[in-house]
Amino acid sequence: MNTTNRRTFLRTATAAGAGMILTPQISKAGLSKKIKDGEVNIAFIGVGGRGRGHLRRAAMTEGVKITAFCDIDPIAVTKTRKILAELGKPEAEAYSDGEYAFEKMLQRDDIDGVIIATPWLWHTRMAVATMKAGKYAAVEVSAANTIEECWDLVNTSEETGMPCMILENVNYRRDVMAVLNMVKQGVFGEIVHARCGYRHSLLNIKFNDPLKFGKGATGEARWRTLHSLKRNADNYPTHGLGPIAKMLDINRGNRLLYLTSTASKAVGLKDYVEEKGGVNHPYARLPWKQGDVITSTIKTANGETIIVTHDCNLPRPYSLNFSVQGTDGITDFDSDHRRIYVEGISEEHKWSEFKAWQDKYDHPLWKKYEEQAAGSGHGGMDFFVTREFINAVKEQRQPVLDVYDAAAWSSVTPLSEASIAQGSSPQYFPDFTRGNWIKRKPVKFE
Ligand SMILES: NC(=O)c1ccc[n+]([C@@H]2O[C@H](COP(=O)([O-])OP(=O)(O)OC[C@H]3O[C@@H](n4cnc5c(N)ncnc54)[C@H](O)[C@@H]3O)[C@@H](O)[C@H]2O)c1
Repeated sequence: MNTTNRRTFLRTATAAGAGMILTPQISKAGLSKKIKDGEVNIAFIGVGGRGRGHLRRAAMTEGVKITAFCDIDPIAVTKTRKILAELGKPEAEAYSDGEYAFEKMLQRDDIDGVIIATPWLWHTRMAVATMKAGKYAAVEVSAANTIEECWDLVNTSEETGMPCMILENVNYRRDVMAVLNMVKQGVFGEIVHARCGYRHSLLNIKFNDPLKFGKGATGEARWRTLHSLKRNADNYPTHGLGPIAKMLDINRGNRLLYLTSTASKAVGLKDYVEEKGGVNHPYARLPWKQGDVITSTIKTANGETIIVTHDCNLPRPYSLNFSVQGTDGITDFDSDHRRIYVEGISEEHKWSEFKAWQDKYDHPLWKKYEEQAAGSGHGGMDFFVTREFINAVKEQRQPVLDVYDAAAWSSVTPLSEASIAQGSSPQYFPDFTRGNWIKRKPVKFE
């Protein structure tokens, strides 16, 4: 078959395959209530920076009532009340009496879905309690910290019939969705390799100014920095892996098989502390565990390889470092530069401009909701991720990013940790679908 014919064949073949893409369904048996007239009640656990973003978007969505929210920080509670008042929405009851106040909130009957945006160590505990209370759960990234927690999410969702969505907003980035379309329509032929990562200097997030983290600090410095002190792992894999996993149909005809991870030395946080606080600052003597650059290579059941990078402890520009490569072409797309090469169309050995491809393969969701998305967080993608959870609750269906995605993507953290600790030895992903990945069909983003 010549190149053009092969590409045409692949495009036709995948377009025919695309006909098999399903709208996600849920067995009605597991559902505790019927949603009347498209009205849903949404509640929140954790209304810090991220939780308040979701809350604002949810409050502005037609048919959504915010009935309750929970946060242990009185400042976060006050700010949340202010948002609801500014938007002219009814007051919601606040639960802030201790770290387990969320359990009391979950006893309410007037909650259909709960958005969880707390520090990582709370995610699974809160999502499990939410599902056990008969409510849809949505949990920020990453969803779980250990393999046991990944299984807790899956087991609880299956036992209760309650969905658990991972709130991976990067799956909704405009270029990511266009490349997803290109992959599905065979532009790159058969996919062989992909690259992604979270390369974002978090130095001024991990430490307050003046230098502080942990108890008494504010924002993510209160909790996130401790993970770099105690664990040598890629503890934030899903912004990169989520989008690539959907392109490769992970858990739906394909699955993550094993990974090997390698960590560089850990000197970035010490260097930052010494620059800001001097070489005698007590933090400069801390034994930081997390390697500054952690590189994991994943092998999938269908034979693709994926390189995932974690790089947050050094000064550097923001980059998710995406690349997707197949038998007919390749694209590199990052926030500040995008390029593409398609065999037979691009000039031989030279990159082509991405813009025309972006326009041609722009996802229907973006075309439809461009105006509404504009101005919402992270270039518009946050609009879509909050919307998908609310729609899943309204329509009583599984979200497109489901509990198996939450478990598989989040499991990179403990698996990378084990691999690094054992000299980059291979670590096998549990099959969270219990074999069902062989027959589960891809689902549409709509
Ligand atoms: N998807 C994204 O782009 C994105 C962006 C930022 C943060 N996040 C994720 O969102 C989550 C929250 O991050 P953030 O930046 O809002 O952090 P944050 O520290 O600003 O907010 C966390 C909130 O949780 C509250 N909290 C802690 N323990 C609690 C408990 N037991 N009960 C109730 N409330 C509790 C804190 O008081 C705080 O208000 C994290 O998982 C983070 O990784 C995702």
